[in-house]
Amino acid sequence: MIYRSVISRIKDHSAVVGVVGLGYVGLPFAVEKGKVGFSVIGFDMDKNKILQINKGKNYIPDVKDNELNELVKTKKFRATNNFDELSNVDIIVIAVPTPLKKNLIPNLSYVKAATNSITKNLKKGHLVSLESTTYPGTTEEVILPILEKSGLKAEKDFYLAYSPERVDPGNMRYTTKNTNKVVGGVGEKSLNVAKTFYSETIDHIVPVSSAKIAEMVKVYENTYRAVNIALVNEMLLLCDKMEINVWEMLEAAFTKPFGIAPFLTLII
Ligand SMILES: NC(=O)c1ccc[n+]([C@@H]2O[C@H](COP(=O)([O-])OP(=O)(O)OC[C@H]3O[C@@H](n4cnc5c(N)ncnc54)[C@H](O)[C@@H]3O)[C@@H](O)[C@H]2O)c1
Repeated sequence: MIYRSVISRIKDHSAVVGVVGLGYVGLPFAVEKGKVGFSVIGFDMDKNKILQINKGKNYIPDVKDNELNELVKTKKFRATNNFDELSNVDIIVIAVPTPLKKNLIPNLSYVKAATNSITKNLKKGHLVSLESTTYPGTTEEVILPILEKSGLKAEKDFYLAYSPERVDPGNMRYTTKNTNKVVGGVGEKSLNVAKTFYSETIDHIVPVSSAKIAEMVKVYENTYRAVNIALVNEMLLLCDKMEINVWEMLEAAFTKPFGIAPFLTLII
């Protein structure tokens, strides 16, 4: 009953979307959902960001000023630091920072603080989806037990998923809509609710069998990119020393049709 009701509220866009963390990931996400007709409430600790949003003022380059302004004017989107309002939404997306500590241990304090605020306001039928980059196991081993302190049970009373953000700031060819979205749930129902939600705004959803796999997908993507950035940086130094034009060399290398991929941002 709860399950069917949340699916149908997502499909007819009467579900209210809450976005926790209104930065580079959260604000564009909130605007995307507002543009397709969801009512969106943004939550942040930063009073300045809340003030700016509620005046219709944009602070993220990937967000179009007029789109944000229109959503605020038509009351489809507003921001608040009153986390009790989380009980008035149906879907909660977490997009808070996950920096590393000095000793390179992940700092989950923002994720935990956001999850604690959600736990106090968790209600039956809620979908909670984590978008922050994190280590495999975070959703099931850290977030799930905090949420279940509410007395509600995942899969039975509420739904929990992980879906990594894949924004490429400035890329005009690959936007949120046409960038495949990986989703993993803590169970089958969670996966289905999350899939239904994301497919309202994204062309192709890639479901995986657990939240942990989805988390590892993000770790793999980031490691793959870091290794390639390091490789090309080393090549640049070497080419400079050997008086070789690195761009000409790369262009020729990327004509190989398999086993190699260029990392370019397509600004067209
Ligand atoms: N920026 C990117 O290009 C990008 C791409 C992919 C993934 N990510 C990941 O997405 C996550 C968010 O990154 P970002 O770049 O949007 O960060 P950001 O610093 O731009 O924004 C995070 C926001 O969360 C708010 N916040 C912190 N604690 C909070 C709490 N307890 N409750 C509510 N709001 C809180 C902050 O005030 C800030 O406005 C990180 O895990 C990051 O690694 C970022």
